[in-house]
Amino acid sequence: MAEPGALGPRHIAIIMDGNGRWAKNRRLPRTLGHVKGAKVVRPLVKSCVERGVTHLTLFAFSTENWRRPPEEVSTLMGLFGQYLEKEVSDMQKQGVRFRLIGDRSAFAQGLQDLIAHAELSTAHNQGIHLTVAANYGGQWDILNATREWQRANPLKGLEMLDAPGLAPHLSMAGAPDPDLLIRTGGESRISNFLLWQCAYTELYFTDALWPDFNAAMLDEALAWYQKRVRRFGRTDEQVLGDPSARAKLPMA
Ligand code: IPE
Ligand code: IPE
Ligand code: MG
Repeated sequence: MAEPGALGPRHIAIIMDGNGRWAKNRRLPRTLGHVKGAKVVRPLVKSCVERGVTHLTLFAFSTENWRRPPEEVSTLMGLFGQYLEKEVSDMQKQGVRFRLIGDRSAFAQGLQDLIAHAELSTAHNQGIHLTVAANYGGQWDILNATREWQRANPLKGLEMLDAPGLAPHLSMAGAPDPDLLIRTGGESRISNFLLWQCAYTELYFTDALWPDFNAAMLDEALAWYQKRVRRFGRTDEQVLGDPSARAKLPMA
């Protein structure tokens, strides 16, 4: 297991990709890939807690995923609801703080209620922050935050808007930016995930398909992360002069 602590990422974001191909490889319907993929989440949360991760953000459904066949969309919605129903009591036991980011108004009322219940009943927990991104898009997030800023500052022109001003209106407000982004499924793209927040995130792409993702693969990603030098625009000399700055230097 990788050492938790100073060099480990505080915040890991994951694009959980490859469910469909996992199922196709086994001549199973795509939906069974999603069923298997959902089962990976609980042990993953546990592994992250054991490794000192304080924030885990999972991309479950993008604003573009509505373009999929309606049967697949409704399976995904159904699975999300089942996950929430099943996992809330375990989240309570583990002290997990659950939060959803994305435009939830597009979901059926029943699903919106399950989301609200999961958020409310875990809000006072003290453990890992588990954020699920559903009907989420990075472009939506930035546009939404800009509109919110304008509503909150009706007397200011947009030329007054700066990054610190926008930050409290973004959906991940209050959380550190992801240190490490993992994408399974072999593609090397962001697919409209946390565009703003990943400005300086280390990007790790693996061919493993999401339903196969396990603790050993997480450790491979963590070992890779620990070899990165995060310069945030500075020079190697500036950064390496301070060994404690490796892999955890803040943006300030
Ligand atoms: C990720 O797996 C799950 C969602 C996008 C909801 P995919 O369903 O995209 O799997 P592939 O990429 O088709 O294999
Ligand atoms: C990204 O996967 C979204 C999620 C994992 C939820 P996609 O499978 O939708 O991404 P693209 O379309 O291949 O870029
Ligand atoms: Mg995919």
